[in-house]
Amino acid sequence: MGIAGLGTVGASVVRLLGDKTDHLSKRSGRDVAVTAVCARDRGRDRGVSLDGLSWHDDPVALAESDGIDLFVELMGGEGDPAAAAVSTALRRGRPVVTANKALLAARGTELARLAEENGTTIGFEAAVAGGIPIVKTMREAMAGNRVERVYGILNGTCNYILTRMEEEGLSFADCLAEAQRLGYAEADPTFDIEGHDSAHKLALLSSLAFGVTTDFDSIHLEGIASITTEDLKAAAELGYRIKLLGVARRTDTGIEQRVTPTMMPRNLALANVDGVLNAVAVDGDEVGEITMVGPGAGGSATASAVVADIVDIARGRCLPVFGIPAAELEPYRRARMRKH
Ligand code: NDP
Ligand code: HSE
Repeated sequence: MGIAGLGTVGASVVRLLGDKTDHLSKRSGRDVAVTAVCARDRGRDRGVSLDGLSWHDDPVALAESDGIDLFVELMGGEGDPAAAAVSTALRRGRPVVTANKALLAARGTELARLAEENGTTIGFEAAVAGGIPIVKTMREAMAGNRVERVYGILNGTCNYILTRMEEEGLSFADCLAEAQRLGYAEADPTFDIEGHDSAHKLALLSSLAFGVTTDFDSIHLEGIASITTEDLKAAAELGYRIKLLGVARRTDTGIEQRVTPTMMPRNLALANVDGVLNAVAVDGDEVGEITMVGPGAGGSATASAVVADIVDIARGRCLPVFGIPAAELEPYRRARMRKH
């Protein structure tokens, strides 16, 4: 396989695949190995051995090179080169694994179609809630349900900032800097704190939950940039905590999607999901409500999800990207928003 992007996630994936080669090959029934990589800076120490791997400077050239049977995109960004490289791999009938929610929120339906027309697939477990296996849960394990609502804490950086500001009285800027140092934040952290990253993930959850085309633009969006320690203290005095929630639900008029800082009573389980943890709750008509909690960002946790997709593909699984064929996704219909 070829991996484009050797930052927080990419380097962790290379490390994991190297450490667990035998284990993963047994699980897959075939050799699982990286043969080629791509990043911008050849000289940078990535903390992992790249010995014996062929180096590409151009992700698109890597995606179309004959030496790989799977393309793993871990660069980020909704435009090129990520978009061009993923499309190139899919056009060649090559499966893609990506953690890039920005790309999929913007172009998920189009890329899913491209994958399915070319007899291949896109694995994106890592694109939603880091290490939590919510994509597989919704795409596979909840197939017998009509989902009414999916919601949760979808951004590790924001949850980390809000938790440390509240519990330790630290400044917003210091908490954000620490989240960046730990590798949780996006390359441009305004995506985290202004709510865009949560909204990217919510758009993907909506497609999985309701069988609709991805539609990022209709999400009502508010981030946490204006929240102060005083706000958090005042909420605590009233018995509440503030969490950045993403919520998508069916209504009579369409699908409502919103990302907003929300006051939550302290006795709710979700209000006590702290630090880099994320939580996703899904309401299915048969199973009831399922909630999954786990690390929402960070190298190892995200690599765990990327490698799960790699193993699936190595085993020969080729599921429709959003659980049903892309050609059958319904056009997204925006619900009339109620005023709160
Ligand atoms: P980083 O910024 O740490 O790494 C990005 C990597 O992509 C770097 O190695 C960089 O090269 C490479 N890259 C960027 N642009 C190019 C280009 N034009 N050509 C070649 N290589 C390029 O990002 P992360 O590892 O944090 O994130 C990667 C993806 O995973 C993103 O889509 C992100 O949203 C997603 N994600 C991240 C999580 C996290 O916890 N960090 C969790 C879940 C998903 P170089 O190193 O040489 O600069
Ligand atoms: N920046 C993202 C977050 C990475 O903090 O949740 C995981 O998607």
